Parts: sequence; C-alpha cells; structure tokens
Amino acid sequence: MGRIVYVNGEYLPEEEATVSIFDRGFLMADGVYEVTSVLDGKLIDFDGHAARLARSLAELDMAQPISHEELLAVHRELVARNGIDEGLVYLQITRGNPGDRDFVFPDPDETAPTVVMFTQSKPGLADNPAARAGIKVISLPDLRWHRRDIKTVQLLYPSMGKMAAKAAGAGDAWFVEDGKVTEGTSNNAYIVKGNRIITRELSNDILHGITRAAVLRFAAEAQMEVEERAFTIEEAQGADEAFITSATTFVTPVIEIDGVKVGTGEAGPKALRLREIYIEESRKAAI
Ligand code: PDD
Repeated sequence: MGRIVYVNGEYLPEEEATVSIFDRGFLMADGVYEVTSVLDGKLIDFDGHAARLARSLAELDMAQPISHEELLAVHRELVARNGIDEGLVYLQITRGNPGDRDFVFPDPDETAPTVVMFTQSKPGLADNPAARAGIKVISLPDLRWHRRDIKTVQLLYPSMGKMAAKAAGAGDAWFVEDGKVTEGTSNNAYIVKGNRIITRELSNDILHGITRAAVLRFAAEAQMEVEERAFTIEEAQGADEAFITSATTFVTPVIEIDGVKVGTGEAGPKALRLREIYIEESRKAAI
C-alpha cells in the first residue's frame, strides 16, 4: 500500500500527489526542507526543526505558509496515517508555481508557496548495527554555495559527494574548504581528542544541525568538553575518534578518513556513548 502524503493542505495517496512543472522548486531549486526523525511513533527535536525552517524561509524572503501548530499537526497526522514507528518526516516548501519560468521571484500575494510532506519508514533507525560499527569517509573540496546555513533543496553537489564516496567504498564524504573540514554531505563532522569534542563553529559555512545542538548539550552528561573550531583532515586522521551527526544518523562513528584509520579503526567508545545518550534523551523528549 502506498503512502498518504501531504500537498498544500490535502492528504492524498502518493500516486495522486502532484506539483506543477512550473514549480520553482523544480525549475530553480528555490525551496527549503527539513527532515525530522521519528522514534516510537513520536517526533524527535521537532521544535528545533520548526525553528530552523522559519529561519531558512526568512533568509530567502519566503513567507511562512503554515503555523507551528499546523506543522506539528500535519507531521503527527502523517506519522499516524502511515503507521510510522521508526523513520522520518520529510518537509519541503518552495516559492510555488508562478505559471511560467522566470528568474525573478513571483509576487507572494499572487503565488502561494508549495508545501509538501511525506514519511519514510526506517525500521532499525535507532538500533542500527551499521551505524554502531561506524563508517568510512573520504574528503572532497567543498564546492557548494556560501549560504550553507540555509537548508535549501540544492542537493546536487551533496549527491555527487555521496556517489564519489560510494565509488571509493566509503559511506560518506567530508567537505574541505581552505584546508579545513566544513561538514559532511548531509551531516555535521566532529573529532574527539581526550575528553574534548571538536567541531566547526556555527557560521554560513555549515548547516546549523539540530542534532549537533542536542549532542553538544549532552556532552557534559558524557563527561566531555566542547571546543568549537575548524580542523584539518590530517588532524582528524590523528584524532582519538571521529563521528557525524544528523537527524537520520543520530551519532555515527567515523572509523576511517581517506584510507587512514582513526584511532583503533573501530567505532569509538565516546561516540557510541554520545549516540546512546542522544537516543535515550531524544526518546524521552519526543512529542
Ligand atoms: N541533512 N549538514 C548538512 C549539509 C545536512 O544536510 C544535514 C542534515 C546536517 C545535520 O543537520 P540535522 O542534525 O539538523 O539533521 C548537517 C538531512 C538529514 C538530510 O538532508 O537528509
């Protein structure tokens, strides 16, 4: 049975859900998105994702077409209608369908944004042996635009990064700019040295990860300190541990970078402890 998805105020079978060929999300990648994970049928870090969505829209001069309460209600309704226990809710808002192709933004009074949401069921999201074992990453130059703090649907370069990683037998790629790691293709990047978690400071160079914020908050619970600064691939290769965070990977250890083992070459105990704490606390706070 197909999913029930949400398009502009309607719940529809996925086969019947359509968006115009003139939609600016399709023609111009003029849209933003969010991914919120679901554990035990409940939403993880929903308020953080909703707040970042509002910020992404504001940065692109797009009106907020749906209230916080309505957004939450639609997320919950989709989770319920599709019987999602573990998985995610994907949300995308574009500048809509002006009825033709034009670089100039349409008048927002005449063109309503397009709002699409759908679920993905991912059993084993939390208790994922592959995530616990860790992943290998390769490094690639960061060729994305310079407003990576806005969660836009311009995901071609990250997709190319994932393909390059796959071709190299790795699980993901870390982007490097001016000699320093920015972030992963779809996650934030960290190293561990002693009891310090080191991760790049927030700026327009990276997405302000919602999982990042939570994990840094939980660092004290793992008896760890946080240092927000950029690091090089060489420093990461020589670190005790490395890991990534995102709404879909939670905390996942990185065991190899560009063919060089990190630490013992096995999933680091500190990263695994942070994963455990994150999942436990997130389950408690889920709504
Ligand atoms: N990606 N950096 C980038 C470039 C991302 O695309 C993501 C999320 C993150 C982590 O953010 P958060 O912790 O809020 O998920 C960092 C999502 C999961 C995706 O594109 O599927």
